[in-house]
Amino acid sequence: MRNIAIFASGSGSNAENIIRYFKNHPTVRVDSVWSNKRDAFVLERTKTLGVEAFYFTKEEFQGSDKLIKELKNRNIELIILAGFLWLVPPELIEDFTIINIHPALLPNYGGKGMYGSKVHETVVANHETESGITIHLVNREYDRGEHLLQVKCPVYPLDSADTLAARIHELEYKYFPAAIEEFLNRKS
Ligand code: GAR
Repeated sequence: MRNIAIFASGSGSNAENIIRYFKNHPTVRVDSVWSNKRDAFVLERTKTLGVEAFYFTKEEFQGSDKLIKELKNRNIELIILAGFLWLVPPELIEDFTIINIHPALLPNYGGKGMYGSKVHETVVANHETESGITIHLVNREYDRGEHLLQVKCPVYPLDSADTLAARIHELEYKYFPAAIEEFLNRKS
């Protein structure tokens, strides 16, 4: 089995969708979900889905090899960022392949602080007519790694950040798990 770990900071609807997609998959398994927020809803969600969930501190994430050792012990091949807030430290990037999803068409509306609803609020405020999702490899800079997939959707004049977020989430649910699967197929 090829083991995936998911990192998430918030609600975790993408994490849930990925877990459901790979349930009973012949070769890919979501091993665990990790959050930097102790009270993130993703941790609750994950437990009800029968996947182990863990919380880690900033010190464990950046300043020690504890997390890296645990991920290696669990035989993690791929880390998925599904709504994860922190910049990934170089040690983790060197040891693991990491994929992120961003809810906009990078390089637009990316970078530090551009997260979740903030992205959609800015896209709507700028009267963009198009947004979408970017699935990309993670490197040392926020949202700057190689693109694996971009999918577009319209932004309508009457959209709010919430209506746009809902449209973007639908794209994420449709394309993210399959993009992960395809990446692993190409990698093997
Ligand atoms: C998703 O829309 C994801 O693209 C975004 O956070 C949301 C998490 O939703 N990620 C970023 O903004 C990363 N910069 P979820 O917790 O319901 O999956």
